[in-house]
Amino acid sequence: MAHSIVPAPVSFTRNEGEPFTLDSTSSIVVGTDAEVARTGEMLAVLLRASTGYAIPVRADSVTTGAIILRANPAASGEEYQLRVTRDSVRIAGTPSGIFRGVQTLRQLLPPAIESHMKLNGTWTVPAVTIEDRPRFAWRGSMLDVARHFFTVDEVKQFIDLLALYKLNVLHLHLADDQGWRIEIKSRPRLAEMGGVTQVGGGPGGFYTQAEYADIVRYAQERFISIVPEIDMPGHTNAALIAHPELSCSRIAPAPYTGTEVGWSAFCPNKEETYALIDDVIRELAALTPGRYIHVGGDEVEVLTHEEYIRFIERVQDIVVRHGKEMVGWEEVGKARLRPTTLAQQWKSDSALLALKSGAKLIMSPSPRAYLDMKYTDATELGLKWAALIEVADVYNWDPATYQAGVTERDIVGVEGPIWSETLRNITAVQYLAMPRLPALAEVGWTPQSAREWESFRVRVAAHAPRWNYLGVNYHRSPQIPW
Ligand code: ACM
Repeated sequence: MAHSIVPAPVSFTRNEGEPFTLDSTSSIVVGTDAEVARTGEMLAVLLRASTGYAIPVRADSVTTGAIILRANPAASGEEYQLRVTRDSVRIAGTPSGIFRGVQTLRQLLPPAIESHMKLNGTWTVPAVTIEDRPRFAWRGSMLDVARHFFTVDEVKQFIDLLALYKLNVLHLHLADDQGWRIEIKSRPRLAEMGGVTQVGGGPGGFYTQAEYADIVRYAQERFISIVPEIDMPGHTNAALIAHPELSCSRIAPAPYTGTEVGWSAFCPNKEETYALIDDVIRELAALTPGRYIHVGGDEVEVLTHEEYIRFIERVQDIVVRHGKEMVGWEEVGKARLRPTTLAQQWKSDSALLALKSGAKLIMSPSPRAYLDMKYTDATELGLKWAALIEVADVYNWDPATYQAGVTERDIVGVEGPIWSETLRNITAVQYLAMPRLPALAEVGWTPQSAREWESFRVRVAAHAPRWNYLGVNYHRSPQIPW
Protein backbone atom coordinates (compact mmCIF):
# COMPACT_ATOMS: atom_id res chain seq x y z
CA MET A 1 0.00 0.00 0.00
CA ALA A 2 1.42 3.31 -1.06
CA HIS A 3 -0.33 5.29 1.68
CA SER A 4 -3.19 5.13 4.16
CA ILE A 5 -4.84 8.47 3.42
CA VAL A 6 -8.65 8.57 3.85
CA PRO A 7 -10.35 9.85 1.78
CA ALA A 8 -7.99 8.80 -0.99
CA PRO A 9 -6.55 11.82 -2.83
CA VAL A 10 -7.11 12.46 -6.53
CA SER A 11 -3.44 11.93 -7.32
CA PHE A 12 -0.55 10.63 -5.22
CA THR A 13 3.05 10.29 -6.35
CA ARG A 14 5.94 9.03 -4.26
CA ASN A 15 9.05 11.06 -5.09
CA GLU A 16 12.66 10.00 -5.20
CA GLY A 17 14.54 11.25 -2.21
CA GLU A 18 14.60 11.41 1.54
CA PRO A 19 11.58 12.01 3.75
CA PHE A 20 11.00 15.24 5.67
CA THR A 21 11.71 14.92 9.38
CA LEU A 22 10.16 17.12 12.04
CA ASP A 23 12.71 18.09 14.68
CA SER A 24 13.39 20.71 17.32
CA THR A 25 14.23 23.31 14.67
CA SER A 26 11.06 22.83 12.59
CA SER A 27 8.67 25.73 12.09
CA ILE A 28 5.42 26.51 10.29
CA VAL A 29 5.40 29.37 7.76
CA VAL A 30 2.01 30.89 7.01
CA GLY A 31 2.30 34.20 5.14
CA THR A 32 -0.29 36.92 5.65
CA ASP A 33 -3.70 35.29 5.08
CA ALA A 34 -5.53 35.25 8.44
CA GLU A 35 -7.37 31.96 7.82
CA VAL A 36 -4.17 30.24 6.72
CA ALA A 37 -2.40 31.63 9.81
CA ARG A 38 -5.15 30.14 12.01
CA THR A 39 -4.78 26.76 10.31
CA GLY A 40 -1.03 27.00 10.93
CA GLU A 41 -1.60 27.69 14.64
CA MET A 42 -3.98 24.72 14.88
CA LEU A 43 -1.40 22.46 13.22
CA ALA A 44 1.28 23.75 15.60
CA VAL A 45 -0.88 22.91 18.63
CA LEU A 46 -1.28 19.34 17.33
CA LEU A 47 2.42 18.86 16.56
CA ARG A 48 3.76 20.44 19.77
CA ALA A 49 1.80 18.13 22.07
CA SER A 50 3.21 14.85 20.76
CA THR A 51 6.69 15.94 19.61
CA GLY A 52 7.48 18.33 22.44
CA TYR A 53 9.12 20.68 19.91
CA ALA A 54 8.54 24.43 19.97
CA ILE A 55 7.20 24.57 16.36
CA PRO A 56 6.94 28.37 16.04
CA VAL A 57 4.44 29.75 13.52
CA ARG A 58 5.99 32.54 11.45
CA ALA A 59 5.00 34.85 8.65
CA ASP A 60 8.52 35.11 7.18
CA SER A 61 9.95 33.15 4.30
CA VAL A 62 12.24 30.57 5.89
CA THR A 63 12.07 27.58 3.58
CA THR A 64 14.26 24.92 5.12
CA GLY A 65 12.98 22.74 7.91
CA ALA A 66 9.58 24.29 7.49
CA ILE A 67 6.00 23.34 6.84
CA ILE A 68 4.95 26.08 4.43
CA LEU A 69 1.25 26.88 4.06
CA ARG A 70 0.68 29.18 1.12
CA ALA A 71 -2.58 30.63 -0.18
CA ASN A 72 -2.77 30.19 -3.93
CA PRO A 73 -5.10 32.77 -5.53
CA ALA A 74 -5.42 30.58 -8.63
CA ALA A 75 -6.91 27.68 -6.62
CA SER A 76 -10.67 27.21 -6.22
CA GLY A 77 -13.09 25.29 -4.01
CA GLU A 78 -11.26 23.12 -1.49
CA GLU A 79 -8.36 22.12 -3.72
CA TYR A 80 -4.79 21.87 -2.48
CA GLN A 81 -1.40 20.62 -3.52
CA LEU A 82 0.98 18.99 -1.04
CA ARG A 83 4.65 18.46 -1.84
CA VAL A 84 7.13 16.90 0.57
CA THR A 85 10.90 17.01 0.12
CA ARG A 86 13.70 16.46 2.61
CA ASP A 87 13.81 20.23 3.22
CA SER A 88 10.17 21.18 3.50
CA VAL A 89 6.49 20.35 3.38
CA ARG A 90 4.61 22.73 1.10
CA ILE A 91 0.82 22.93 1.11
CA ALA A 92 -0.75 25.40 -1.34
CA GLY A 93 -4.39 26.04 -2.17
CA THR A 94 -7.40 28.00 -1.06
CA PRO A 95 -7.60 28.58 2.72
CA SER A 96 -10.11 25.71 3.02
CA GLY A 97 -7.98 23.58 0.70
CA ILE A 98 -4.93 24.20 2.89
CA PHE A 99 -6.94 23.05 5.93
CA ARG A 100 -7.88 19.86 4.03
CA GLY A 101 -4.23 19.43 3.04
CA VAL A 102 -3.17 19.71 6.68
CA GLN A 103 -5.44 16.72 7.43
CA THR A 104 -3.57 14.80 4.73
CA LEU A 105 -0.28 15.80 6.34
CA ARG A 106 -1.55 14.52 9.71
CA GLN A 107 -2.30 11.19 8.08
CA LEU A 108 1.17 11.04 6.46
CA LEU A 109 2.77 11.40 9.91
CA PRO A 110 2.90 8.40 12.29
CA PRO A 111 -0.35 7.82 14.28
CA ALA A 112 1.46 8.83 17.47
CA ILE A 113 1.37 12.43 16.19
CA GLU A 114 -2.20 12.44 17.59
CA SER A 115 -0.95 11.86 21.15
CA HIS A 116 -1.72 14.60 23.64
CA MET A 117 1.42 13.69 25.60
CA LYS A 118 5.04 14.04 24.51
CA LEU A 119 6.40 10.85 22.98
CA ASN A 120 9.87 9.98 21.73
CA GLY A 121 9.08 9.35 18.08
CA THR A 122 10.72 9.73 14.72
CA TRP A 123 8.45 12.16 12.99
CA THR A 124 8.95 11.59 9.29
CA VAL A 125 6.76 12.45 6.33
CA PRO A 126 7.42 10.46 3.14
CA ALA A 127 8.52 12.40 0.04
CA VAL A 128 5.30 12.68 -1.97
CA THR A 129 3.39 14.97 -4.30
CA ILE A 130 -0.39 15.09 -3.89
CA GLU A 131 -2.93 16.95 -6.00
CA ASP A 132 -6.37 16.87 -4.46
CA ARG A 133 -9.88 18.29 -4.64
CA PRO A 134 -13.32 16.98 -3.64
CA ARG A 135 -15.80 15.30 -5.97
CA PHE A 136 -18.81 16.88 -4.22
CA ALA A 137 -19.25 20.30 -2.59
CA TRP A 138 -21.52 18.91 0.17
CA ARG A 139 -19.96 16.21 2.32
CA GLY A 140 -21.77 15.98 5.60
CA SER A 141 -23.05 14.16 8.59
CA MET A 142 -26.10 14.85 10.71
CA LEU A 143 -26.18 14.58 14.47
CA ASP A 144 -29.59 14.15 16.10
CA VAL A 145 -29.27 16.19 19.29
CA ALA A 146 -33.05 16.01 19.83
CA ARG A 147 -33.68 12.33 20.67
CA HIS A 148 -30.71 12.51 23.03
CA PHE A 149 -29.03 15.78 23.89
CA PHE A 150 -25.28 16.16 23.34
CA THR A 151 -23.17 18.76 25.12
CA VAL A 152 -21.23 21.46 23.28
CA ASP A 153 -18.03 19.58 24.06
CA GLU A 154 -19.46 16.35 22.61
CA VAL A 155 -20.52 18.16 19.42
CA LYS A 156 -17.00 19.57 19.14
CA GLN A 157 -15.56 16.04 19.44
CA PHE A 158 -17.81 15.03 16.56
CA ILE A 159 -16.69 18.06 14.52
CA ASP A 160 -13.06 16.98 15.10
CA LEU A 161 -13.84 13.67 13.40
CA LEU A 162 -15.56 15.37 10.46
CA ALA A 163 -12.51 17.61 10.05
CA LEU A 164 -10.04 14.70 10.04
CA TYR A 165 -11.93 13.11 7.13
CA LYS A 166 -12.42 16.35 5.13
CA LEU A 167 -16.18 16.57 5.64
CA ASN A 168 -17.54 20.11 5.41
CA VAL A 169 -21.15 20.06 6.66
CA LEU A 170 -22.55 19.32 10.11
CA HIS A 171 -26.34 19.19 10.02
CA LEU A 172 -27.74 19.51 13.55
CA HIS A 173 -31.23 18.06 14.06
CA LEU A 174 -32.24 20.61 16.70
CA ALA A 175 -35.92 19.86 17.29
CA ASP A 176 -38.08 16.77 17.37
CA ASP A 177 -40.91 15.28 19.42
CA GLN A 178 -38.58 14.49 22.31
CA GLY A 179 -36.82 17.82 22.66
CA TRP A 180 -36.28 21.40 21.47
CA ARG A 181 -32.55 22.13 21.67
CA ILE A 182 -31.94 25.78 20.74
CA GLU A 183 -32.73 28.96 22.67
CA ILE A 184 -35.07 31.29 20.77
CA LYS A 185 -35.02 34.64 22.57
CA SER A 186 -38.39 35.84 21.27
CA ARG A 187 -39.98 32.49 22.22
CA PRO A 188 -38.16 31.43 25.40
CA ARG A 189 -40.69 28.72 26.32
CA LEU A 190 -39.60 26.58 23.33
CA ALA A 191 -36.30 25.62 24.98
CA GLU A 192 -37.33 26.13 28.61
CA MET A 193 -40.38 23.84 28.38
CA GLY A 194 -39.55 21.84 25.24
CA GLY A 195 -35.91 21.12 26.06
CA VAL A 196 -36.18 19.25 29.33
CA THR A 197 -36.86 15.71 28.11
CA GLN A 198 -35.24 13.12 25.87
CA VAL A 199 -35.71 9.50 24.81
CA GLY A 200 -35.79 7.31 27.89
CA GLY A 201 -36.76 10.21 30.17
CA GLY A 202 -33.38 11.82 30.87
CA PRO A 203 -33.05 15.56 31.51
CA GLY A 204 -32.37 16.62 27.90
CA GLY A 205 -31.02 20.14 27.56
CA PHE A 206 -30.64 22.91 25.02
CA TYR A 207 -27.97 25.20 23.57
CA THR A 208 -28.11 28.85 24.55
CA GLN A 209 -27.53 31.12 21.56
CA ALA A 210 -24.02 31.79 22.87
CA GLU A 211 -23.32 28.04 22.98
CA TYR A 212 -24.70 27.57 19.49
CA ALA A 213 -22.49 30.43 18.28
CA ASP A 214 -19.52 28.69 19.91
CA ILE A 215 -20.30 25.49 17.95
CA VAL A 216 -20.68 27.50 14.73
CA ARG A 217 -17.31 29.21 15.31
CA TYR A 218 -15.55 25.93 16.15
CA ALA A 219 -16.91 24.39 12.95
CA GLN A 220 -16.07 27.47 10.88
CA GLU A 221 -12.42 27.32 12.00
CA ARG A 222 -12.39 23.84 10.45
CA PHE A 223 -14.18 25.01 7.27
CA ILE A 224 -17.32 23.11 8.26
CA SER A 225 -20.77 24.71 7.82
CA ILE A 226 -23.44 24.16 10.42
CA VAL A 227 -26.87 23.47 8.89
CA PRO A 228 -29.47 23.84 11.65
CA GLU A 229 -32.68 21.83 11.32
CA ILE A 230 -35.98 22.62 12.96
CA ASP A 231 -38.14 19.68 11.90
CA MET A 232 -41.71 20.71 10.96
CA PRO A 233 -44.67 20.47 10.53
CA GLY A 234 -44.32 16.97 12.03
CA HIS A 235 -41.90 15.90 14.77
CA THR A 236 -43.08 18.91 16.77
CA ASN A 237 -44.37 17.58 20.08
CA ALA A 238 -41.72 19.40 22.12
CA ALA A 239 -42.64 22.73 20.50
CA LEU A 240 -46.33 22.08 21.11
CA ILE A 241 -45.72 21.53 24.84
CA ALA A 242 -44.44 25.12 24.93
CA HIS A 243 -46.97 26.51 22.43
CA PRO A 244 -50.18 24.43 22.50
CA GLU A 245 -51.96 27.18 20.54
CA LEU A 246 -50.08 25.90 17.48
CA SER A 247 -51.77 22.49 17.55
CA CYS A 248 -55.16 22.16 15.88
CA SER A 249 -56.65 20.95 19.20
CA ARG A 250 -55.01 23.78 21.24
CA ILE A 251 -54.46 21.19 24.00
CA ALA A 252 -50.93 20.97 25.39
CA PRO A 253 -49.53 17.48 24.79
CA ALA A 254 -47.58 15.46 27.34
CA PRO A 255 -43.80 15.22 27.08
CA TYR A 256 -42.77 12.34 24.83
CA THR A 257 -39.82 10.04 25.56
CA GLY A 258 -40.59 7.18 23.16
CA THR A 259 -39.41 6.65 19.58
CA GLU A 260 -42.52 6.49 17.37
CA VAL A 261 -42.79 8.97 14.49
CA GLY A 262 -45.43 10.61 12.31
CA TRP A 263 -48.08 11.56 14.88
CA SER A 264 -47.46 15.21 15.82
CA ALA A 265 -48.00 18.34 13.70
CA PHE A 266 -48.21 22.11 13.77
CA CYS A 267 -51.66 23.29 12.71
CA PRO A 268 -51.11 24.51 9.13
CA ASN A 269 -54.22 26.70 9.04
CA LYS A 270 -53.33 29.18 11.78
CA GLU A 271 -51.44 32.40 11.35
CA GLU A 272 -49.94 31.89 14.82
CA THR A 273 -48.04 28.91 13.41
CA TYR A 274 -46.30 31.01 10.76
CA ALA A 275 -45.63 33.85 13.21
CA LEU A 276 -43.73 31.46 15.48
CA ILE A 277 -41.86 29.90 12.55
CA ASP A 278 -40.91 33.38 11.37
CA ASP A 279 -39.44 34.19 14.79
CA VAL A 280 -37.50 30.92 14.92
CA ILE A 281 -36.11 31.15 11.38
CA ARG A 282 -35.20 34.84 11.83
CA GLU A 283 -33.14 34.11 14.95
CA LEU A 284 -31.54 30.97 13.51
CA ALA A 285 -30.65 32.79 10.27
CA ALA A 286 -28.97 35.56 12.26
CA LEU A 287 -26.91 32.99 14.20
CA THR A 288 -25.92 30.86 11.22
CA PRO A 289 -23.35 32.12 8.70
CA GLY A 290 -23.96 29.23 6.27
CA ARG A 291 -26.46 29.52 3.39
CA TYR A 292 -28.91 26.85 4.52
CA ILE A 293 -31.69 26.32 7.04
CA HIS A 294 -33.17 22.80 7.17
CA VAL A 295 -36.90 22.65 7.91
CA GLY A 296 -37.38 18.88 8.06
CA GLY A 297 -40.70 18.12 6.39
CA ASP A 298 -40.43 14.34 6.83
CA GLU A 299 -42.96 11.77 8.04
CA VAL A 300 -46.09 13.88 8.31
CA GLU A 301 -49.03 11.51 8.64
CA VAL A 302 -51.71 13.72 10.19
CA LEU A 303 -52.10 16.49 7.57
CA THR A 304 -53.75 16.33 4.16
CA HIS A 305 -51.60 16.49 1.02
CA GLU A 306 -52.85 20.02 0.32
CA GLU A 307 -52.18 21.20 3.87
CA TYR A 308 -48.65 19.81 3.71
CA ILE A 309 -47.85 21.49 0.39
CA ARG A 310 -49.21 24.83 1.48
CA PHE A 311 -47.22 24.63 4.70
CA ILE A 312 -43.91 23.80 3.00
CA GLU A 313 -44.32 26.53 0.38
CA ARG A 314 -44.99 29.16 3.07
CA VAL A 315 -42.05 28.01 5.15
CA GLN A 316 -39.80 28.09 2.06
CA ASP A 317 -40.80 31.73 1.57
CA ILE A 318 -39.99 32.50 5.21
CA VAL A 319 -36.52 30.97 4.92
CA VAL A 320 -35.81 32.96 1.76
CA ARG A 321 -37.16 36.17 3.31
CA HIS A 322 -34.53 35.79 6.03
CA GLY A 323 -31.76 35.52 3.46
CA LYS A 324 -31.23 31.76 3.50
CA GLU A 325 -31.99 28.78 1.26
CA MET A 326 -34.24 25.94 2.39
CA VAL A 327 -33.27 22.31 2.82
CA GLY A 328 -35.93 19.69 3.51
CA TRP A 329 -36.14 15.91 3.63
CA GLU A 330 -37.20 14.61 0.23
CA GLU A 331 -40.93 14.71 1.04
CA VAL A 332 -40.75 18.48 0.42
CA GLY A 333 -40.49 17.54 -3.29
CA LYS A 334 -44.30 17.28 -3.26
CA ALA A 335 -44.41 21.10 -2.95
CA ARG A 336 -43.27 23.71 -5.50
CA LEU A 337 -39.60 24.21 -4.73
CA ARG A 338 -37.28 27.01 -5.70
CA PRO A 339 -34.24 26.08 -7.80
CA THR A 340 -32.04 27.12 -4.86
CA THR A 341 -33.79 24.72 -2.45
CA LEU A 342 -32.15 21.38 -1.61
CA ALA A 343 -34.03 18.14 -0.96
CA GLN A 344 -32.38 15.46 1.14
CA GLN A 345 -32.98 12.06 -0.45
CA TRP A 346 -33.37 9.29 2.15
CA LYS A 347 -35.96 6.78 0.92
CA SER A 348 -36.21 7.52 -2.83
CA ASP A 349 -39.97 8.04 -3.20
CA SER A 350 -40.10 11.86 -3.55
CA ALA A 351 -36.60 12.72 -4.77
CA LEU A 352 -37.62 12.77 -8.44
CA LEU A 353 -40.47 15.15 -7.63
CA ALA A 354 -37.95 17.50 -6.03
CA LEU A 355 -35.77 17.34 -9.14
CA LYS A 356 -38.77 18.13 -11.33
CA SER A 357 -39.26 21.26 -9.25
CA GLY A 358 -35.69 22.20 -10.11
CA ALA A 359 -34.19 21.55 -6.68
CA LYS A 360 -30.92 19.70 -6.26
CA LEU A 361 -30.41 16.67 -4.02
CA ILE A 362 -28.30 15.72 -1.04
CA MET A 363 -27.95 11.94 -1.20
CA SER A 364 -28.56 10.15 2.14
CA PRO A 365 -30.05 6.81 1.04
CA SER A 366 -31.06 5.17 4.31
CA PRO A 367 -29.87 1.63 3.36
CA ARG A 368 -26.37 3.02 2.64
CA ALA A 369 -25.81 6.30 4.46
CA TYR A 370 -27.81 6.08 7.70
CA LEU A 371 -24.92 5.63 10.08
CA ASP A 372 -27.26 4.93 13.00
CA MET A 373 -28.27 1.56 11.51
CA LYS A 374 -26.75 -1.53 13.13
CA TYR A 375 -23.71 -3.10 11.43
CA THR A 376 -25.15 -6.59 11.98
CA ASP A 377 -28.02 -8.07 13.92
CA ALA A 378 -25.62 -8.47 16.84
CA THR A 379 -24.76 -4.75 17.10
CA GLU A 380 -26.02 -3.57 20.49
CA LEU A 381 -26.63 0.04 19.46
CA GLY A 382 -28.55 1.47 16.54
CA LEU A 383 -31.72 0.61 14.63
CA LYS A 384 -32.37 -1.63 11.63
CA TRP A 385 -35.57 -0.43 9.94
CA ALA A 386 -33.66 0.69 6.82
CA ALA A 387 -31.05 -2.08 6.66
CA LEU A 388 -28.16 -3.69 8.44
CA ILE A 389 -25.22 -1.65 7.13
CA GLU A 390 -21.67 -3.01 7.28
CA VAL A 391 -18.73 -0.81 6.30
CA ALA A 392 -18.63 -2.14 2.71
CA ASP A 393 -22.31 -1.20 2.24
CA VAL A 394 -21.53 2.44 3.07
CA TYR A 395 -18.54 2.35 0.71
CA ASN A 396 -19.85 0.43 -2.30
CA TRP A 397 -22.36 2.74 -3.96
CA ASP A 398 -22.14 5.65 -6.34
CA PRO A 399 -24.33 8.67 -5.55
CA ALA A 400 -24.59 9.40 -9.29
CA THR A 401 -26.12 6.01 -10.16
CA TYR A 402 -27.87 5.04 -6.91
CA GLN A 403 -31.35 6.12 -7.97
CA ALA A 404 -32.72 5.84 -11.50
CA GLY A 405 -33.39 9.32 -12.88
CA VAL A 406 -30.80 10.99 -10.64
CA THR A 407 -27.49 11.93 -12.26
CA GLU A 408 -24.32 13.55 -10.95
CA ARG A 409 -25.59 16.96 -12.15
CA ASP A 410 -28.61 16.66 -9.86
CA ILE A 411 -26.56 16.12 -6.71
CA VAL A 412 -24.72 18.55 -4.45
CA GLY A 413 -23.25 15.75 -2.38
CA VAL A 414 -23.72 13.15 0.33
CA GLU A 415 -24.63 13.14 3.99
CA GLY A 416 -24.61 10.43 6.65
CA PRO A 417 -27.33 11.02 9.25
CA ILE A 418 -26.85 9.71 12.80
CA TRP A 419 -30.20 9.51 14.56
CA SER A 420 -29.82 9.14 18.30
CA GLU A 421 -32.77 7.11 19.60
CA THR A 422 -30.29 4.55 21.03
CA LEU A 423 -27.28 6.86 21.49
CA ARG A 424 -26.96 8.47 24.88
CA ASN A 425 -23.47 9.94 24.59
CA ILE A 426 -20.75 10.73 22.04
CA THR A 427 -18.95 7.44 22.73
CA ALA A 428 -22.01 5.61 21.43
CA VAL A 429 -22.15 7.94 18.40
CA GLN A 430 -18.49 7.20 17.64
CA TYR A 431 -19.13 3.46 17.78
CA LEU A 432 -21.63 3.76 14.95
CA ALA A 433 -19.71 6.45 13.05
CA MET A 434 -16.34 4.69 13.00
CA PRO A 435 -15.32 3.32 10.56
CA ARG A 436 -18.41 4.12 8.48
CA LEU A 437 -17.98 7.91 8.54
CA PRO A 438 -14.54 7.68 6.85
CA ALA A 439 -16.13 5.32 4.26
CA LEU A 440 -18.83 7.89 3.49
CA ALA A 441 -16.21 10.65 3.44
CA GLU A 442 -14.43 8.79 0.64
CA VAL A 443 -17.72 8.40 -1.27
CA GLY A 444 -18.09 12.17 -1.15
CA TRP A 445 -14.49 13.22 -1.79
CA THR A 446 -12.71 10.72 -4.04
CA PRO A 447 -13.48 10.37 -7.77
CA GLN A 448 -15.54 7.22 -8.38
CA SER A 449 -12.81 5.91 -10.73
CA ALA A 450 -10.23 6.12 -7.93
CA ARG A 451 -12.33 4.31 -5.31
CA GLU A 452 -11.71 0.68 -4.47
CA TRP A 453 -13.01 -1.23 -1.46
CA GLU A 454 -9.94 -3.50 -1.21
CA SER A 455 -7.76 -0.41 -1.00
CA PHE A 456 -10.05 1.43 1.44
CA ARG A 457 -10.31 -1.44 3.91
CA VAL A 458 -6.52 -1.67 4.21
CA ARG A 459 -6.03 2.10 4.46
CA VAL A 460 -8.72 2.59 7.10
CA ALA A 461 -7.30 -0.26 9.19
CA ALA A 462 -4.16 1.85 9.65
CA HIS A 463 -6.28 4.55 11.31
CA ALA A 464 -7.19 2.51 14.38
CA PRO A 465 -4.02 3.46 16.33
CA ARG A 466 -4.82 7.10 15.51
CA TRP A 467 -8.33 6.70 16.95
CA ASN A 468 -6.84 5.09 20.05
CA TYR A 469 -4.57 8.10 20.62
CA LEU A 470 -7.57 10.39 20.06
CA GLY A 471 -9.75 8.38 22.44
CA VAL A 472 -12.29 7.69 19.70
CA ASN A 473 -14.49 4.62 20.04
CA TYR A 474 -15.03 2.42 16.97
CA HIS A 475 -16.52 -0.85 15.80
CA ARG A 476 -13.95 -3.55 15.04
CA SER A 477 -15.74 -4.64 11.88
CA PRO A 478 -14.58 -8.07 10.66
CA GLN A 479 -14.49 -6.56 7.15
CA ILE A 480 -11.44 -4.47 8.07
CA PRO A 481 -7.94 -6.07 8.47
CA TRP A 482 -7.13 -4.31 11.75
C1 ACM B 1 -35.98 10.53 8.36
O1 ACM B 1 -35.21 9.57 8.51
N1 ACM B 1 -37.14 10.59 8.97
C2 ACM B 1 -35.63 11.65 7.49
